Amino acid sequence: MKIGPYRLQSDAVLAPMAGVSDLGFRTLARRYGAGLTYTEMVSVCGLMHRNKQTEVLTLVAPCETPAAIQLFGSDPDIFFRAAGHEAVAKFDIIDINMGCPVPKVVSRGEGSALMKDARRAQDIVRATIEGAKGKPVTVKMRLGWDSVIAPEFARQMQEAGAAAVTVHGRTRKQLYTGRADWEAIRQVVEAVDVPVIANGDVKTAEDYRAIKATTGADGVMIARGAVGHTSLFAEILGQTPEVDYKADFTLQLSLLRQTFGDHVACMLLKPHLIAAVSGRRNAKELRLAVGTARAIEEIEAIVNLL
Ligand SMILES: Cc1cc2nc3c(=O)[nH]c(=O)nc-3n(C[C@H](O)[C@H](O)[C@H](O)COP(=O)(O)O)c2cc1C
Repeated sequence: MKIGPYRLQSDAVLAPMAGVSDLGFRTLARRYGAGLTYTEMVSVCGLMHRNKQTEVLTLVAPCETPAAIQLFGSDPDIFFRAAGHEAVAKFDIIDINMGCPVPKVVSRGEGSALMKDARRAQDIVRATIEGAKGKPVTVKMRLGWDSVIAPEFARQMQEAGAAAVTVHGRTRKQLYTGRADWEAIRQVVEAVDVPVIANGDVKTAEDYRAIKATTGADGVMIARGAVGHTSLFAEILGQTPEVDYKADFTLQLSLLRQTFGDHVACMLLKPHLIAAVSGRRNAKELRLAVGTARAIEEIEAIVNLL
């Protein structure tokens, strides 16, 4: 799959996930063969206010070539300025969040609320392309707000200059309930010429093949299925990787500590550890130990058991 001038080494990509898509996780996903990794959603307003918590989200791992950042907001002018911001300049691809369903976000006209205002969404895409001086700008959307409008909406994003679109096969109203509608994603693939990345409910290499066959999409984005299971990207490439969880989590933890300090590093590693131990014989005890761990030494001790 190609996004703008960038030919990806795999068409399976790691999704942006707030609080989860940290630099360490993204590094592991790339090592196992993810074709692209995105930062979690970064507020364009936070960037303009030079908010420290926002800036830390814009760090890039050396292996992230090309590197993608996801921005969210609602004002085209602020997107224009954010796209030219030095923290964003390090990235090769800018993705715009038009899928986040969280009330705090949609109440400000951001995230999936943009699917109710195609003209504003188009203005944001155009302003971002202009601010980024022609870098590829992509859009991540849902199927719609409360009904399926993604084929038409994707066409409008393409018309505004989007280099690719990712479609999560649920409406905003559905949040994360039910099954992602892969047939509806197929309609988007048929509606546009730019690459489409299909997203929703891919947990195994088999799911990856099934979503590609059903949708005909150029790429597949994986979110929850990769948490604690970054080797999924190697399995998708037909490999049978020998996974050394201890080494992987030690690397992720050390990257997190360098970036965020010990306390935040512990908190950020927890969902990954909990996902990784599920299905193990002693999963219940391990989950409890992860949940109650406070100090870095406790987290390290659990990692050493893996
Ligand atoms: C904890 C969490 C955080 C998320 N944060 C973001 C985000 O920052 N930006 C975004 O576009 N989508 C975000 N999503 C949505 C995912 O990228 C993805 O679209 C959704 O989870 C469906 O894919 P999946 O079935 O592979 O999980 C998030 C999802 C989860 C579970």
